[in-house]
Amino acid sequence: MQHKVPAGLDHKEAEVYRHLDPQKLPKHIAIIMDGNGRWAKRRHMPRVAGHRAGVAAVRSTVETAARIHIPALTLYAFSEENWKKRPKSEVDFLMRLLSRYLKAEVPTLNQNSIRLQYIGRQHELPPDVQERMAWARESTAANAGMVLTLALNYSARSEIVDAFRAMLTAAEQNGGVEHLRVDEDAVSRHLYTRHLPDPDLVVRTSGEMRLSNFLLWQLAYAEIYVTSTLWPDFRGVHLLEGIAEYQKRERRYGGLNHGDTHAQPL
Ligand code: FPP
Repeated sequence: MQHKVPAGLDHKEAEVYRHLDPQKLPKHIAIIMDGNGRWAKRRHMPRVAGHRAGVAAVRSTVETAARIHIPALTLYAFSEENWKKRPKSEVDFLMRLLSRYLKAEVPTLNQNSIRLQYIGRQHELPPDVQERMAWARESTAANAGMVLTLALNYSARSEIVDAFRAMLTAAEQNGGVEHLRVDEDAVSRHLYTRHLPDPDLVVRTSGEMRLSNFLLWQLAYAEIYVTSTLWPDFRGVHLLEGIAEYQKRERRYGGLNHGDTHAQPL
């Protein structure tokens, strides 16, 4: 396969990209960024040093995804559980890091025509962080390229609970619950991700084989790619390697393999 390599890819990225089929890129990639703590521990550094190093991985991954024209990228930055189970000092550090990232990154997001969105219970985040988030979203709202969604204070189960609540509220305002129609489309339309197609590919770093309460509804048919690379070491080239692996898989959506139409039922 020989095709034009998009501008801006480095040598290693271009090498992997040349073996991809540009017609079959995933439309939406979701990433569980994991391993910051382990990265720091291996270097005898405090955990927060791993989070700080994770920002470079975010930057590289976002830019590469935009350069190869992935329509949507969603990053699991902060789970609802992170609030309850991590020391306050670490949570405060992550909030400051996010604020600084947003301030520093808006010009680059604009240069790459990336539109920023969020999913999660944003109203529970510190007010100054919410303000910065709103500013960054508005500053990138006119961009027509990749949609970058940050999952912040996110929990898939809470999202599903919120979707049911939103459906009930809508029904009450539209003639009562007897008019409520609940089907898959209705649920999807009330999720935080209603602006996005379901992810085709979910990447998890640092080798763990879990979904950790991330996009449980939306990942129903996604291909899962787990890499042992720790998040702070992850770069655009690793994203391209994940896409190469994705393109080797045959997606069946519960159907049969191509050419297996005479398979016997179990
Ligand atoms: C998981 O590593 C990572 C997080 C909980 C936070 C993710 C944050 C970043 C990548 C930094 C900045 C992000 C943005 C969007 C600015 P862990 O601490 O659970 O690692 P461990 O499992 O090795 O302990």
